[in-house]
Amino acid sequence: MIRPFGRRSWRNVSVVLIFSAIVSLFVIKMLPLCNPLPSYSGPHQVGIIDVEADCETRVLHPAVLKDGGEIALKLESVFFTLFYPATPNPGHVHWPPKHYWVPRPLSLVASGYARLAHISSSILHRVFTFGLWLFAGATTIPAHADAPILSRLEHELGGLKDGSVVTSPLLKESAGLPVIVFSHGMAGMRTSYSHYCGELASRGYVVAAIEHRDGSGPGSVVMTADGKERDILHINMDDIVSDPPITADGFKAAQLAFREAEVEETIRVLRAIDDGEGERVLRENPRREGWSFAEWQGRLDVESVTIVGHSYGATLALQTLRDAPSKSLPVRSAIMFDPGKESGPLNSDITVPTLIINSGSWTSSPASFYGRPHFAVVKAVAQSVLDRGVHAWFLTLLHTAHSSITDAPILQPLIFRLVTGTRLNERLALDAYVNASHDFLRFVRDGRRRGVLASGVTSEDGPLGKAEDAESDLSGLWEVHVAPEPESEGEEM
Ligand SMILES: *[C@@H]1O[C@H](CO)[C@@H](O)[C@H](O)[C@H]1NC(C)=O
Repeated sequence: MIRPFGRRSWRNVSVVLIFSAIVSLFVIKMLPLCNPLPSYSGPHQVGIIDVEADCETRVLHPAVLKDGGEIALKLESVFFTLFYPATPNPGHVHWPPKHYWVPRPLSLVASGYARLAHISSSILHRVFTFGLWLFAGATTIPAHADAPILSRLEHELGGLKDGSVVTSPLLKESAGLPVIVFSHGMAGMRTSYSHYCGELASRGYVVAAIEHRDGSGPGSVVMTADGKERDILHINMDDIVSDPPITADGFKAAQLAFREAEVEETIRVLRAIDDGEGERVLRENPRREGWSFAEWQGRLDVESVTIVGHSYGATLALQTLRDAPSKSLPVRSAIMFDPGKESGPLNSDITVPTLIINSGSWTSSPASFYGRPHFAVVKAVAQSVLDRGVHAWFLTLLHTAHSSITDAPILQPLIFRLVTGTRLNERLALDAYVNASHDFLRFVRDGRRRGVLASGVTSEDGPLGKAEDAESDLSGLWEVHVAPEPESEGEEM
């Protein structure tokens, strides 16, 4: 006899029902778990502008995509988000009203993440898109879209209030706002570090966060001034062909060359804006933002750029220092977070002030890097800068993970802690990263050592070595592996 719903089946059905009820409740409860991004703590309000600009086409490697036959590493335009100190004008609302944290189109970004995870099924792709929409689709960046740049008056008052800015010898020559170019890591986008970038903007820095189109990010749309659009997805080695075949190391070198070209082009566009060509940059910007660029003339200190990078971006930042400062790369200082362990050799030919910050997990997980421990290689990079008589630091922020510098821990603190096992409160960690960066940026301008940068070496060999910071004032957050000799009281540096 057939009993479609035997006692056992009924039990199964009710288990399924209860289970789905729990799952739906959980999903509904989860929604608020994607925290909003907090506003920035510095004295200035923050503006945000997307800029895309055509550049002379450069082919960094002839390899082509299997799918479609396009050249994989062809640079046609550069794309970055500006985070900058602003004086918003309440009556002035421009399109678009807000900037989403996950750039649109969502499905392109989702396809890219699917590729990163080597998933090709179209159902899973839809699940990815849905997940992205569910978790972060509505998250916006808490900055004023396309607001006017900080007024000169507020800039000067801000300088007086701070004291340190006015004494800066550099600022006496040019009253321009200091410029930072930010380079993201593997799987990153221009918005992935928005909290860090926005915090620095609220302290008076103009940050250009590049979206690299070298195939390292999940996905991006290349828009050129002639109205054409081209999707770029994440590129794995098996997505490209070339004759002779390209090696994994060769591809990374080509990607880094591509990234370096993007840094050059970003600086070229910023220079044009500072030179009074802002209206042309706006007219040619397919993102239709930058309505007050005309007023940016003479407001940027473009000849003294600080490059900041994370992971792959930190490897790139070190690479840009090879011949810096130069005309195309006027980079005069650099901050590197977790220099790459798998993105090729690290440049140590550096003659500008350098700050390298490792996360706790980057320092403590042993990694062999071209036959030497990664930690020792990074330490040697910082030491070689010091040996040239240039200021350099190498620090570890304890109890943090590789991605603690991104927005991920703020958006999803519970999942982040579960996945990474970090112990330091995520906001505290980001504050510490921002403080140390700000201390360094001010040091570059006025030569005064503050905060963790005023400390001497506390732990020469990392957590595996002896930590002697018991009596130092680092609140147990920092280890200092390389630092200039501590200043004696009142010494001029
Ligand atoms: C960062 O700096 C601010 C202002 O000086 C200070 O109040 C805060 O405690 C610092 N946070 C960390 C984690 O260092």
